[in-house]
Amino acid sequence: MRLLRLLFCGLLILPFLANATETIPDDKQVITFKNKKGTVTFNHGLHATVRGIECQSCHHTHEAGQPIKRCGDCHKKKKSPVEGFSVLAPKTSKAYHNKCKGCHKYTLEELQKPAGPTKCKLCHIKDK
Ligand code: HEC
Ligand code: HEC
Ligand code: HEC
Ligand code: HEC
Repeated sequence: MRLLRLLFCGLLILPFLANATETIPDDKQVITFKNKKGTVTFNHGLHATVRGIECQSCHHTHEAGQPIKRCGDCHKKKKSPVEGFSVLAPKTSKAYHNKCKGCHKYTLEELQKPAGPTKCKLCHIKDK
């Protein structure tokens, strides 16, 4: 009986374990990017939960079960080659702007729904 119960608990926990790589770590729920244009505060957790955006939508090279790579591992200061790709990875700021601003613009203009900022100064906040 005890063994059965243990087995049952194990089965309940299993899906969570298998999914462990697909959850956002606590210290990455909100990510801040500091740069010369001003600080960008990105609510990673909100984007992936309430907003229902799939991990792969941003982590576009990610395969389930593999560790998540940083954008900057491939997107450098300049266009750079990446193993396994025939096309160069666009530079960091282009990758971010196309992804972040791109979705906000599309959501506002095409879907006519509320979205995040598309204007420089509303995303990059200068320190007071
Ligand atoms: C709207 C875009 C977006 C979505 C959706 C998203 N992420 Fe991210 N994630 C990012 C960005 C941007 C970073 C910062 C990457 C960097 O620092 O280069 C990041 C960083 C991470 C990191 C830290 C990587 C490191 O080593 O620093 C993990 C882990 C992660 N994301 C997991 C997830 C998981 C799991 C999901 C889905 C539940 C998800 N992300 C959904 C954009 C997104
Ligand atoms: C393993 C390497 C790798 C990682 C990690 C990676 N990218 Fe990319 N990315 C590429 C390559 C290579 C391309 C160009 C080929 C393509 O479009 O698939 C690209 C293309 C893009 C494009 C299309 C650019 C355009 O011209 O419109 C965007 C946007 C983008 N990446 C954003 C991101 C973001 C944001 C992250 C992190 C959340 C990220 N990438 C992580 C390799 C990577
Ligand atoms: C696939 C679509 C999508 C992508 C990709 C995306 N966003 Fe958003 N963003 C949204 C939506 C939807 C909202 C919420 C609009 C609302 O409900 O007010 C939002 C809101 C925001 C806000 C307002 C503050 C907040 O979180 O409510 C900021 C800032 C923001 N996004 C930054 C970013 C950055 C930085 C990136 C890229 C790393 C990014 N977003 C990528 C769809 C997206
Ligand atoms: C949706 C949010 C968003 C909007 C809107 C936006 N940016 Fe950015 N921008 C980012 C993110 C995220 C990065 C990547 C930050 C990093 O890597 O530190 C970035 C990077 C940059 C960088 C590169 C910084 C560096 O050190 O390489 C510059 C310059 C910049 N943005 C200028 C602008 C200008 C000018 C506009 C308006 C035309 C603008 N941004 C609009 C989010 C945004």
